Amino acid sequence: MTAIYPGSFDPMTYGHLDIIQRAAKITDKLIVSVLQNSAKKPFFSVEERMEILRESVSGIKNVEIGCFSGLLADYAKECGTSLVIRGLRAVTDFEYEFQMALTNRLLCPDLETLFISTSTEYLYLGSGVIKEIAMHGGDISKMAPSHVVDRLNSKIMGTH
Ligand code: PNS
Repeated sequence: MTAIYPGSFDPMTYGHLDIIQRAAKITDKLIVSVLQNSAKKPFFSVEERMEILRESVSGIKNVEIGCFSGLLADYAKECGTSLVIRGLRAVTDFEYEFQMALTNRLLCPDLETLFISTSTEYLYLGSGVIKEIAMHGGDISKMAPSHVVDRLNSKIMGTH
């Protein structure tokens, strides 16, 4: 079955990669999709976020990178799938995720959201945290692949 793993991925962390690897094992095709029209002001452009994801999943055969704008429920229909994957970290994610899953199901009754729990080492890891640490010169090498760390540092130094 094909599934979509949607998100902001600004930028992708080891936590996201962990969910991608787990989801790829249980699906025929996984489309990792970057949201284009987020209210959040993104640090990386959609193209940059897609490039980062592409570089990170090059070794996984059944993963594709995409992007979408508008409603996830409509995008899922366009992709011909009714399965959405989301990662769950700590309990604090639950309310937001549950609200999103039920809203999507209201919009499209066939749409199922499957939650995959993250590895314990990434429980409190998020894109916001790594951006903040990187901006203050901290070490994020345990939180994201080296090519993501390099891009973040270049962007922060204004060289990218
Ligand atoms: O990585 P994020 O920011 O937690 O991902 C959130 C995302 C992209 C999955 C969510 O914001 C989304 O699907 N947005 C598209 C708009 C939509 O469908 N909204 C209705 C459901 S709440």
